[in-house]
Amino acid sequence: MGKVIAFAGKGGVGKTTVAALVIRHLVAQHEGPILAVDADPNSNLGETLGLDVTSTIGDIREDFMKDPQGLPSGMDKINYLETLVEQTLIERKDFDLLVMGRQEGQGCYCMVNNILNNFTEKLSRSYKYLVVDNEAGMEHLSRRTSGRVDTLYLVTDYALRGLRAVRRINDMLSSLKLDVKQAGIIVTRAPEKLSDAFMAEVAEIGLPIAATIPNDPMLLDFDMEKRSLLELPNDSPAVVAVEKMMAMTLVK
Ligand SMILES: Nc1ncnc2c1ncn2[C@@H]1O[C@H](COP(=O)(O)OP(=O)(O)O)[C@@H](O)[C@H]1O
Ligand SMILES: [Mg+2]
Repeated sequence: MGKVIAFAGKGGVGKTTVAALVIRHLVAQHEGPILAVDADPNSNLGETLGLDVTSTIGDIREDFMKDPQGLPSGMDKINYLETLVEQTLIERKDFDLLVMGRQEGQGCYCMVNNILNNFTEKLSRSYKYLVVDNEAGMEHLSRRTSGRVDTLYLVTDYALRGLRAVRRINDMLSSLKLDVKQAGIIVTRAPEKLSDAFMAEVAEIGLPIAATIPNDPMLLDFDMEKRSLLELPNDSPAVVAVEKMMAMTLVK
């Protein structure tokens, strides 16, 4: 399987934005094939990449559970669910996108989840990069059977509350059975110089700062105009900061 680059952090700090910019970088470097995974049920990685998302893995699970016996003739459960996952995959020239959608609802969906997880895992083996935009709890990552994350970026805005969420996630890592090769903190909407108080908390967490991304007003414009962040100009401050980060930390 290819390199797994994952993002986690409190809601609203800029995870999806940075994930999209990392995808932008990999696409520009012709580092494909790339699988973008939107693993945040409240998220919008697809929109951020200019894609129209109509179906998620969560939808497949819900629909299937409504009528578990209603299989097309000649298909077993595994074949059927795998076909649905393949249909959910959004394929573009430069990258593909898989949207996980809602996590389990009520009842035990163990069998369905196992099939879906195994198949997404199998699918992901054919990519050179997996870029995973997570929710704060990292449910999706912790459920992956292989459990390897090559680079985990913990994203915070320039606020102690965001940084504390980073600390909580970092503390939780050991209990998630995840094999994280390297981790770093990304500070978004960052001033040129981070305050001593902020740096003192960073030092306590013990992770390096992988990037500081300044406030970039163009992100708001793109958001309002529903434009894909893949179209941001090369000199946009957020793009410049992510390019610098990728030049420094990407393990080939
Ligand atoms: N560096 C930045 N400068 C200005 N706005 C930003 C920056 N990073 C993110 N934003 C904006 O903040 C909002 C939340 O970002 P998003 O990436 O969706 O956060 P998350 O995925 O962590 O919930 C979006 O409207 C985005 O455009
Ligand atoms: Mg998000």
